Amino acid sequence: MKNIQIILCCFFVCIGFSQNKVKNANVEKEVNNLLSKMSLDEKIGQLNLRGTSSRVKGSLPEELKQAVRDGKVGAFLNVMNTDYVDELQRIATTESPNKIPLIFARDVIHGFKTIFPIPLGLAASWNPEIVETSSRVAAVEASSSGIRWTFAPMLDIARDSRWGRIAESPGEDPYLASQLSSAYIKGFQGEDLKDPTSMIACAKHFIGYGAAVGGRDYNTAIINKELLQNVYLPPFKAAFDAGSQTVMTSFNETNGIPASGDKKLLQDILRDQMKFDGFVVSDWNSVIEMIAHGYAKDNKHAAERGLHAGLNMEMTSTAYENHVKELLKEGKISEKEINSLVVDILRVKFRMGLFKNPNRDKNHTGKLYAKEHLELAKKAAIESSVLLKNKKNILPLKKNKSIAVIGPLADKPREQLGTWTFDGDKNHSVTPVNTFKQEKVDFNFIEALDFSRDTSTKKFQKAIATAKKSDVIVFIGGEEAILSGEAHSRANINLPGIQEKLIKELAKTGKSIVLVIMAGRPITLSNIIDDVDAVLMTWHPGTMGGPAIYDMLFGNKEPQGRLPVTWPKVVGQLPLYYNHKNTGRPASKDEYVHIDDIPVGAWQSSLGNTSHYLDAGYTPHFPFGYGLGYTTFSYKNIKLSSNKLSDSKSIEVEVTVKNTGSRDGVELVQLYVQDVVGSITRPVKELKGFQKIVLKAKEEKQVKFTISVDDLKYYNNDLFYGVEKGDFNVWIGSNAASGLKSSFVYE
Ligand code: BGC
Repeated sequence: MKNIQIILCCFFVCIGFSQNKVKNANVEKEVNNLLSKMSLDEKIGQLNLRGTSSRVKGSLPEELKQAVRDGKVGAFLNVMNTDYVDELQRIATTESPNKIPLIFARDVIHGFKTIFPIPLGLAASWNPEIVETSSRVAAVEASSSGIRWTFAPMLDIARDSRWGRIAESPGEDPYLASQLSSAYIKGFQGEDLKDPTSMIACAKHFIGYGAAVGGRDYNTAIINKELLQNVYLPPFKAAFDAGSQTVMTSFNETNGIPASGDKKLLQDILRDQMKFDGFVVSDWNSVIEMIAHGYAKDNKHAAERGLHAGLNMEMTSTAYENHVKELLKEGKISEKEINSLVVDILRVKFRMGLFKNPNRDKNHTGKLYAKEHLELAKKAAIESSVLLKNKKNILPLKKNKSIAVIGPLADKPREQLGTWTFDGDKNHSVTPVNTFKQEKVDFNFIEALDFSRDTSTKKFQKAIATAKKSDVIVFIGGEEAILSGEAHSRANINLPGIQEKLIKELAKTGKSIVLVIMAGRPITLSNIIDDVDAVLMTWHPGTMGGPAIYDMLFGNKEPQGRLPVTWPKVVGQLPLYYNHKNTGRPASKDEYVHIDDIPVGAWQSSLGNTSHYLDAGYTPHFPFGYGLGYTTFSYKNIKLSSNKLSDSKSIEVEVTVKNTGSRDGVELVQLYVQDVVGSITRPVKELKGFQKIVLKAKEEKQVKFTISVDDLKYYNNDLFYGVEKGDFNVWIGSNAASGLKSSFVYE
């Protein structure tokens, strides 16, 4: 075992300070001054996040107005009528006892009106700049409706594509997720929280929601200390370092404690370790759901658990509102605890400048669907799309070919927006069929299946006839928006309905098939991969999906996305992720035994077998980081500035990347490292850097990464954070399963 070099010896001191950690003395003074004037009712009110249905018609319910007048509400979610926003804020700031402004919240996840690709798609762009600018557009648009708080970004590491909410996640890797996390925060919040276009962010779901056992939503998570620190927390740390003002607890329990009542999580980790000084909001009813979890016996007990844990604001359920006074009387909580919860909320309201400027700026139009917003949405869709297969360079398509456009998602303006797009208007969505018409493409369109789950073969013959009279088939299928997202986990993740059957029928025509997938998760393709010539994964691409797909299919642009999650061959491989541990019997091609190669009547033996499935092997269909473009690249000459790394000296790793094709192209150069032996076992590879480069045809470039000791630090089971002396492997390549290898020693 190596010597543990404790770089920073104490777990709680080792986390760096960051910009938002320095409390502003004036704000603290104002907060405390205000607190001293507040009645208990008003304090309880601040802890209350009240929902109204977005569909409320007619006038505002009197009961709601009175609650605001009495100071009994701290914030609202889903008030989508701007007159209501204005009226509620007016009452709060002119008629309530201490005139404390409200905050209006909404799930603005990947766009407000202009919808960008789903977050998993944005993650496939590996481009923090696209994430930041698209989040900025979302904030500009949404804030014009008075929304100054978004329940985003979702930062749950997800390693199981059955989980419906993988669509909203940044994927499986903590490094990539952390890069995107800060970009989201900067984009949503902007440069100044007081700016009327700033929307405070909410890093969610804290913690472990993506680790739901079996990928079933809301399910139990079991996460050891090491994984929590090295995999699940880093994207949140990045969010707090970038100044995220709020964080949302998750629905799930981790290791036996539901997040909304987990004091160690909300106090020791969130406040003490991560120095978070904004406020914590529960998820929808997650306080009272602690009863079903078996962690609270009734609403009052649930309130006590949440308050004690340090959960500031309760979303929708009313356990705090109804029970704080009783709990205080019984001595189960103290007014000091309540004060401290209120202070965190007021601090954020002051930081947002709401006491001076509470009202929606009526001149701020949000520039909904502005030309530049749409252009960015198209760019994001192109950067997010991953080309998985391109046999004989069938893509880009030649313009003079006649095309059969077939499939249930070729012309579905609502579906291409994806999950969490309550405000996106399908009438503004441009579908592939719309674009093909506009661009005067020679094509015949037949949907053949009315929706992705359709099981009627009624239109198959027509589809086959259309295919026969065309040169090439573009099949646009996948999952409708409702098949991923919250509470929409799937046990099978192939193309739903009978899309596979239709593809097989179409393949019999002998025409080439380009499969374009719109979906909220990786889709298993093993049954049909040999029937299609190209596969372009566009996730749910958003408002501008059509023009983006047109540009990519015809080669005006090349798809630029790379997988932010490992793509399985079959669902039984899940959970599947590249940065796994090696095991004592690592899988290898030399020792792989296929199920059909086992002699009938074979004697029981484990020898010769490794960590694999007899029927599905051990490799994914497509590895993490994978994606093709319209040209090819070669990697050569990996060089290290030194093969010795020390505390005072970083090393540089360099390769030569060449565009070997005849077209200019974009390559995502990825750096992976392996800590070979540790005081606890380490992953087989970990992403430590990436660079997107543009190379002209035949051009070559040196690509350089710096590795410092800081890049290699990790938490062991004793929660020491540091690097251990010993050997490291390093790879630079185009995905997690390839790359040129070298090694160095840390001494
Ligand atoms: C989801 C959250 C969301 C909240 C408010 C919950 O069901 O889990 O992610 O922010 O609803 O809409």
